[in-house]
Amino acid sequence: MIERIKTGIPGFDQLVQGGLVKGSTSLVTGGTGTCKTLFSMQFLYSGAVDFGEKGIYISFEESEEDLKSAAESIGINFSKAGKKAKFICLSPYDTIDFISLLKDEITRFGAKRVVIDSITALAMPLDNNFERKKMIFTLNKMLKKMKCSCLLVSEIPSEGSISSESLGRFSRFGVEEFLCDSVIMLHYMGIGGEADRAARVVKMRKTSHKKGPIPMEIGNKGIKILKPKY
Ligand SMILES: Nc1ncnc2c1ncn2[C@@H]1O[C@H](COP(=O)(O)OP(=O)(O)O)[C@@H](O)[C@H]1O
Ligand SMILES: [Mg+2]
Repeated sequence: MIERIKTGIPGFDQLVQGGLVKGSTSLVTGGTGTCKTLFSMQFLYSGAVDFGEKGIYISFEESEEDLKSAAESIGINFSKAGKKAKFICLSPYDTIDFISLLKDEITRFGAKRVVIDSITALAMPLDNNFERKKMIFTLNKMLKKMKCSCLLVSEIPSEGSISSESLGRFSRFGVEEFLCDSVIMLHYMGIGGEADRAARVVKMRKTSHKKGPIPMEIGNKGIKILKPKY
């Protein structure tokens, strides 16, 4: 019996046999503006508000204030999460032992969900892909040990077009997807219409998941995945 946790993102859990595998690490990948940050914040918010799971959001890109107001603009109000959600904003150029810092924060806070936005920014200052792979491997091992369910955001240099995966570009450095249990790709065509935004589960270990891109909407209660047409 595989234990799962609901993301709480309407329509998403039905695509993946009821939720993410508990304690797994998923890469949330896509081009800029494909809603990776909003998707990940909603996962953390729903964990706190709907399922009572504490969560930590690590951002290397935006301030806590900016993140919360972006969430609020789509109807996700973090004040409802009270002390169950914590934002930590860092610079990827800080000379800190990030993995130890996160481990301590998870223990102190009692986090069950963790988002790192983005793994791209965290890995960028490292010298080469060997160092990046080593760092992501060590990070993943720690997160597994802490039994956290995690989203690692990955920024890819494309518009998230549905054809980008045919080029095998699921991540910036090409190593992230192999180290994660799941890959969730978000798309934005920028042409309008129902399929303009879409989510696609590329890989999810231990899960029979929907395979194709499923239209996704931003409403006034956050992101919603629409019913698959097949
Ligand atoms: N209040 C809103 N209403 C509708 N769409 C929004 C709203 N806020 C953000 N968006 C859309 O979401 C995009 C930003 O999402 P974000 O999660 O920050 O993207 P990413 O992290 O993938 O770069 C914007 O470019 C815009 O298209
Ligand atoms: Mg973002």
